[in-house]
Amino acid sequence: MRIETSRTVETDPVEDYAFNDSAASMTPDWYDVDQPLRSAVAHLASCSSKFNWVGVYVLNGSTLELGPYIGAPTEHTRIEVGVGVCGTAVARNEDMNVPDVTATDNYLACSLETKSELVVLIRSQDGRIVGQIDIDSHEHAAFGPEEERLVRDVAEALGERWLEEPAADRG
Ligand code: SME
Repeated sequence: MRIETSRTVETDPVEDYAFNDSAASMTPDWYDVDQPLRSAVAHLASCSSKFNWVGVYVLNGSTLELGPYIGAPTEHTRIEVGVGVCGTAVARNEDMNVPDVTATDNYLACSLETKSELVVLIRSQDGRIVGQIDIDSHEHAAFGPEEERLVRDVAEALGERWLEEPAADRG
């Protein structure tokens, strides 16, 4: 299955990453072996009308690089670890569920409409943080336990198949 949606935007050739398609768990039905990250983003964007911006950032050294996303274009295509909600999640080594982004000092505004944000880390099988799924919502406190579980399941499916570091000449 190829994802054909004009709303999917790819900013970087992150699909060059190698993925192991004989991972231990059953392959989810949304997973496209030719474009795992794009298929993850398309799947999540279709899961809830509250998910107004869905994207994957890939960690390259100390920089998060934006890969496929669905939603309004953002100027935050590269985010340093420690900066914004996205970079803070990596620095703290934990997922971030922010019910009210206006109450957060270290927040990089993507859209003025965004009210809440969820960042779920993607970890490869050896436990390294390799990237993250970032979702913005126009609704306040849009992400409850059910949404967290959904996004974590997708992050786990990607992480357990994630094989390679970015190429040295990228960046
Ligand atoms: N809000 C994020 C930046 C990414 S945009 O939401 C797409 C942050 O604070 O890191």
